[in-house]
Amino acid sequence: MNHLRLPEGIALLPDPLPRLVVTVPTASGVVYLNGAHVAEWTPKGADPVLWMSAESWFEEGQPIRGGIPICLPWFGPGRNNDKSPGHGFVRLAQWNLVEAAVVDGAAHLVLALAGEEASGLPGADEDCLDFSARLIVRMGTTLEVRLEVTAGKSEYTFEEALHTYLSVGDIHRTTVEGLDGASYLDKVAGGIHTQDGPVDFTGETDRVFESTGEVAVVDTAKGRTIRISKTDSANTVVWNPWEAKAAKMPDFGDREWTSMVCVEAANALGNFITLQPGHTHTLVMTLALE
Ligand code: BG6
Repeated sequence: MNHLRLPEGIALLPDPLPRLVVTVPTASGVVYLNGAHVAEWTPKGADPVLWMSAESWFEEGQPIRGGIPICLPWFGPGRNNDKSPGHGFVRLAQWNLVEAAVVDGAAHLVLALAGEEASGLPGADEDCLDFSARLIVRMGTTLEVRLEVTAGKSEYTFEEALHTYLSVGDIHRTTVEGLDGASYLDKVAGGIHTQDGPVDFTGETDRVFESTGEVAVVDTAKGRTIRISKTDSANTVVWNPWEAKAAKMPDFGDREWTSMVCVEAANALGNFITLQPGHTHTLVMTLALE
């Protein structure tokens, strides 16, 4: 447990898992220490922007279904399709709160993890623990999430993603703009394809795009747009499990797929990162509501 003195507007609550509850003039939200997981962000006067499953587990050692899971040091089953657990062990680790402040009406939080603190978690083999990570969250009118990964004494190779679950009114009336012309790996149908126009949703969708640019999630049912910009991210992943896959996931309600979409800022597959000893890579993602 952390012993930082917390400012007014940021509280650390212990149950069911230790979490920071933010209530600042520009926004409210929740960040779990388990996985440094941003679980809620609601700009003042708006509806929640992040989606959270009513069936999610909130248990130590289990991923949380919703919000922004951190995928690290691999994405899915890894670039050689041989890693477990899916999306790496970092989302299962207990991070440490090292800074908490309220600046200009927004919450500023820094959580840190030393690789060896993940030792003992499934998949956390000795040869992938020589790193440290920090998650820097600025939660206000916009949400900025910076994931820093620093290599230890040896070269460190990893994939990563900020696996952002967004709340939408109706997936059938939602499009993702900004990916026209981008090539993508289709994890449902297989093969590499080129996106033509906005992404719309008519069935299970699981695409890893080669794209560094901004995207907009246009939610016609709620009458709002979520803009997602990023830096140092070569991939954007768009995922909705649709009906059959959702029904197979124990921590996902059978009808919940209609009200969510994941748009993830990633460096995955062929865009894995190799850092020299002591060097740092920073992936930044910013969400803004219109
Ligand atoms: C997405 C992947 O990023 O995450 C999907 O592209 C995967 O293939 C989804 O199903 C959810 O993963 P998980 O491990 O959180 O169930």
